[in-house]
Amino acid sequence: MRIVFLGAPGSGKGTQAKKIMADFGFPQVSTGDLLRAAVAAGTELGQRAKAAMDAGELVTDDIVLGIIAERLAEDDCANGFILDGYPRNLQQAEDLQPVLEDIGQSLDAAVLLDVDMDILMKRLTGRRTCSKTGKLLNIYFSPQSEIDECLEQGGELIQRADDNEETISNRLKIYREQTEPLIGFYRDAGLLRTVEGEGDVDEIYARLKATLDLT
Ligand code: AP5
Repeated sequence: MRIVFLGAPGSGKGTQAKKIMADFGFPQVSTGDLLRAAVAAGTELGQRAKAAMDAGELVTDDIVLGIIAERLAEDDCANGFILDGYPRNLQQAEDLQPVLEDIGQSLDAAVLLDVDMDILMKRLTGRRTCSKTGKLLNIYFSPQSEIDECLEQGGELIQRADDNEETISNRLKIYREQTEPLIGFYRDAGLLRTVEGEGDVDEIYARLKATLDLT
């Protein structure tokens, strides 16, 4: 299964990709995670990407193309992958084609997680990661038991640097301007599947699996 996840910031791409990875073994390839790791490691690439990420702007196409080509060539992507956060504009969608040809693969589907804009802000301002387990949580939506589990293990609830209201507003604006046109691009290619992304995480996951014929 080779999937692209479309969807606004906060639509649940990471949440759902992790569930597929856990159940079916296809690796989640998140350009956001790869870029944050580069920033944290202080690499030259990370230093070049940091200012754009802090402002909620897109990192340049050449930087993300380099990291995605390198990642998709790794062995664990040979039997499938979930692209989470790439491509993010039409140029990146064009850039992806030769990368896939080089590794002899093609996409099976582009999944749009469809969520209303007013829900996204709350999901993003409430997002936290447990410093101990790495689990993705939300102070507004996660069951208290999951938050307590993190704290009881001595974990802290870490907020992402770009999950503040100003940066989120810009990320949503950039999504509407640059990423939404990909919906038409993948519809024209016959690959688009739309999944209702509101409601309970497990209900959305059930809809997603049904859409992708994953059993
Ligand atoms: P990236 O890391 O890709 O962030 P994003 O697209 O803004 O997406 P998010 O991770 O914010 O949201 P998500 O859809 O994964 O939601 P999640 O599952 O976490 O990119 C960050 C930055 O990197 C970009 O701004 C850019 O600068 C750069 N970048 C990355 N890729 C790039 C590219 N290709 N080109 C150029 N630049 C690039 O869920 C969010 C929250 O909601 C969580 O707390 C979760 O617990 C909660 N939640 C999820 N589902 C539900 C539900 N059903 N009900 C209630 N809560 C829920």
